[in-house]
Amino acid sequence: MLTLRKLASLGLLALAGLTGCRQDMHDQPRFKPLARSDFYADLRSARPPVEGTVARGELHDDSYFYSGKIGNNPGDYLPFPISMEKLARGRERFNIYCAPCHSRVGDGNGMIVQRGFRAPPSYHTERLRKAPLGYFFDVITNGFGAMPDYASQISPDDRWCIVAYIRALQLSQSATRADIPAGQAVPSPVPDFRDEPGSGATLPQRSEPVVDKKEEQK
Ligand code: HEC
Repeated sequence: MLTLRKLASLGLLALAGLTGCRQDMHDQPRFKPLARSDFYADLRSARPPVEGTVARGELHDDSYFYSGKIGNNPGDYLPFPISMEKLARGRERFNIYCAPCHSRVGDGNGMIVQRGFRAPPSYHTERLRKAPLGYFFDVITNGFGAMPDYASQISPDDRWCIVAYIRALQLSQSATRADIPAGQAVPSPVPDFRDEPGSGATLPQRSEPVVDKKEEQK
């Protein structure tokens, strides 16, 4: 019969055996990213794709969709039909990625600028109001001066949604009476963006007193 003492020593043995042949996953044989390798003639561990092959999702055969350009010039159309859904997606992405500098209305006075970052030009200048859509796509994709590019953070589809939303923002700041649909109240009701997280937005002003929802609940 096994005594308690024997059981304990067996347990210890088993433990020792386990640790002896353990290989940590974080310590497995592998190359660190971009490390040197003597195995390949070019001494690079990172291998280029085999010539003539295309990685899944990297075909980019629609060059306008991926560059916003026709030849060397920016085009002035969206590569897909615009819808409210695309515009809403654009507004959401714009408020996340662009508004911190450009502000939610695109006047270039976002929170990061208020804290000292170089001020971008307003989208509501004559020059940028006339800039073709593909130009905005190109700025997001490749950056512009002090502005970094957002190619890795924002998918091409989302970049186009943002571009569409910027055009809507531009229209919103330079609309005339002729742009108002028949039967629409003027001024139109201010949209309620109040519950979205802040990001240096210059929120529209409302004439009625603002009631804090949390205060109201008390
Ligand atoms: C970190 C701050 C910052 C963010 C975030 C940012 N921008 Fe900019 N943007 C700038 C600055 C600064 C400039 C002016 C750069 C210069 O003149 O050197 C600029 C310029 C621009 C211009 C004008 C180019 C011209 O011809 O004058 C466009 C269009 C633009 N940004 C779009 C965007 C969009 C769209 C996003 C979001 C995807 C975005 N930016 C995010 C800082 C930013």
